[in-house]
Amino acid sequence: MKQFSKIMEIQEYLCSQSDIGKRIGFVPTMGALHKGHLALMNRSKMENDLTVCSIFVNPIQFNNQEDLAKYPRTLASDIKMLEDIGCDVLFVPGTLEMYPENETYIFDLEFGTLDKGLEGKFRPGHFKGVAIVVKKLFDIIKPTRAYFGKKDFQQLAIIRHMVKTLQIPVDIIPCATVREPDGLAMSSRNMRLTIAERTIAPKLFQIMSMVKTKAGKIPVEELKEWAIKKIHENPAFRVEYFEISDEDSLLPLRNWNQKEQAVALTAVFLGDVRLIDNIELFS
Ligand code: PAF
Repeated sequence: MKQFSKIMEIQEYLCSQSDIGKRIGFVPTMGALHKGHLALMNRSKMENDLTVCSIFVNPIQFNNQEDLAKYPRTLASDIKMLEDIGCDVLFVPGTLEMYPENETYIFDLEFGTLDKGLEGKFRPGHFKGVAIVVKKLFDIIKPTRAYFGKKDFQQLAIIRHMVKTLQIPVDIIPCATVREPDGLAMSSRNMRLTIAERTIAPKLFQIMSMVKTKAGKIPVEELKEWAIKKIHENPAFRVEYFEISDEDSLLPLRNWNQKEQAVALTAVFLGDVRLIDNIELFS
């Protein structure tokens, strides 16, 4: 695996590869890799000639400095995993490489309804930070395809919107959430759960699955109330939001008229670890 930390160097290498017709698959990450990331990598390897992974803990997408400080950093084991899976290129830039001092990055993209609720409401500035770094990474890597997990459902919607609005020539490939055998959605943050919390965590997906079986059978508001109450039956959980939204606009659904488009999304604290998950209700 080739490893780069400088923009000029990776650009030079990837240009030489795309010049000879190689299709580049890209998996942007913040490291602390798990099987969810590896599923994205495997998909990219199947569909492209060259797979590039980036590892960069993007400071400007953290609205909470404590969360940034606590974000797991496991570069040595990440590199080992990437080598084992056959990743071709790894890009690990430093913060100054991505955000040089005195750089003014003009980015005034509107996300309409997409960034107002859910994560956008509780993590102000988060999606702007994500969009800026993803745009920068796309400019550097110039991928043919880029792979994103559906676990970050709202992030995926924002990135698709940005790619469409700015006419960035990349195919965004959404990939199914990868779960532990007990249903817990894989996430880098899971490694911060205590042993006791880890046994409780899968209950969240069990409740999301129950929501799916009830969807369309009781009114939307009633179902949301039921879900929040059910999650709080376990006192270790604290729900930040639980919403049933339209998949395209991400606006809250008022009734089941457009139920084909309904997705339930939640953010829940378990101790000081914030879990997010979602489930498409009619697919
Ligand atoms: O999903 C993530 O890991 C990050 O938000 C991303 C897309 C790598 C941008 O920093």
